[in-house]
Amino acid sequence: MAKTPVKMKINGREVEALVEPRTLLIHFLREEQLLTGAHIGCETSHCGACTVDLDGKTVKSCTVFAVQAEGSEITTVEGMAAADGTLHPLQEGFAAMHGLQCGFCTPGMLMRAQRLLQENPNPSDEEIRMGISGNICRCTGYQNIVKAIRYAADKLNNSEREAAE
Ligand code: FES
Ligand code: FES
Repeated sequence: MAKTPVKMKINGREVEALVEPRTLLIHFLREEQLLTGAHIGCETSHCGACTVDLDGKTVKSCTVFAVQAEGSEITTVEGMAAADGTLHPLQEGFAAMHGLQCGFCTPGMLMRAQRLLQENPNPSDEEIRMGISGNICRCTGYQNIVKAIRYAADKLNNSEREAAE
């Protein structure tokens, strides 16, 4: 099949590639960019395992063709920690609050939670639950995921407060 040139920025890196028009973004990320953090669960937009951030929006990358991401800025879970390896408060929170068991949903949860906290820096537990309602976890019962996101929200809000003082 004829391939189409695409350009996009992934985790701050300019990427140029040739893709088949039928290639889904999740396959492009995993198989061609070797960014295997985003997982494939259902490929029908139900589970959220494939969640990435695309131009400031949470997107299930199994619902987007790679060609549709032309010119976009994408962040995957690989782009979440700082360049020196310091974990993002969300990653720290998931570890500290036992927000994962098998870990299959975790990259998608992290990406969704990051955007959720940008949209609403101090969400209630109910708003956290609503905010992650597009991401399924089959292990944890969500309780500790909510605690992990709350941990990160508190840490981010405290550092902002300290920076302002
Ligand atoms: S793999 Fe994309 S939503 Fe399940
Ligand atoms: S930790 Fe196993 S699916 Fe969420």
